[in-house]
Amino acid sequence: MKKVLVTGGAGFIGSHTSVELYNAGYLPVLLDNFANSDKRVLKGIEAITGHTPICHEGDCTDYTFVDRIFREEGPFEGVIHFAAYKAVNESVHHPLKYYHNNLQSTEVLLTAMKKHGCSRLVFSSSCTVYGQPASLPVTEETPFQRANSPYGFTKQVCERMISDVASASVTGLQAVLLRYFNPIGAHPSGHIGELPLGKPENLVPYITQTAAGLRDEVVIFGNDYDTPDGTCVRDYIHVVDLAEAHVAALRYLEHPSRNCEALNLGTGEGNSVSEVVKSFIEETGAHLPYRFGERRPGDVEQIWASAAKAADLLKWHTKRDLREALRDAWNWQQKIS
Ligand code: UD1
Repeated sequence: MKKVLVTGGAGFIGSHTSVELYNAGYLPVLLDNFANSDKRVLKGIEAITGHTPICHEGDCTDYTFVDRIFREEGPFEGVIHFAAYKAVNESVHHPLKYYHNNLQSTEVLLTAMKKHGCSRLVFSSSCTVYGQPASLPVTEETPFQRANSPYGFTKQVCERMISDVASASVTGLQAVLLRYFNPIGAHPSGHIGELPLGKPENLVPYITQTAAGLRDEVVIFGNDYDTPDGTCVRDYIHVVDLAEAHVAALRYLEHPSRNCEALNLGTGEGNSVSEVVKSFIEETGAHLPYRFGERRPGDVEQIWASAAKAADLLKWHTKRDLREALRDAWNWQQKIS
């Protein structure tokens, strides 16, 4: 089996991608420092795939550690780099934590890949690189606005770092930069899903925890935006669709002529926060207390993807809709509550 190094492999998107790698006949080798993930995830991957995941505990900012993994586990067919901090609000209050972790891990990984002759990288980026775009839907040609958080800036810088290395032809790096819109949901088996430590910042885990009685109410952050119902609009993508795109990206890089591409991963449709809340209630029948509150600082008003480039280059498209993602998220929440 072809081995693929998956940094942050025990995280939300990393764990679902590891499952899809097994399904596609690859052997994922997970690295995780478990700073924002839980070892129970490994049992979940095993329950779905029948494979005990290979997982090394350590930090991707540590070159000695990463170099050892390349020596002991390599050669790798490619690397999928998820390991990063991702809380927008926290990054505003602890910028150095974000600059150190997100930038250094990427630099360390690129250095180790070069040393060990590994040329294919799939990078976990975010639609946050666009800021509030002037027109919608967002295409990959839409110019970046000034990042509105240190987290967003680390994604812009990492993308640039990777594309600079890919352009320097002597290194032979090929890369796909995947700009995720809003990943939600869980594996339909209910064995893996999102496990936010502490109080969730993201909408769907907040909804499911509230419906499970772990939180008092959902506060919808602002209903006076210039959108059809006044609440913010996002492009919510099922995490299994997202995971499948990573496998397609690895396959895309198998062709030696491919150098570096940025691709949006979204459904191409926007849904408002109120629509998500109402869809959740309709789909699950759960009791969900909610109210409208103040806007959350730093939120963009509305953003959704053009997913045409990913469909064209990866031959990939989403197969699951918002309601299925909400049902899967609720199924998962009920199993862990
Ligand atoms: C942002 C980034 C995304 C990044 C993610 C990491 C943008 C456009 N998106 O997602 O790229 O990967 O952070 O965490 O920068 N909401 C509520 N009540 C809540 C929680 C959220 O109303 O309790 C609303 C938010 O105001 C927002 C929507 O739900 O309109 C989605 O919020 P969230 O799930 O936090 O994701 P983003 O902020 O869109």
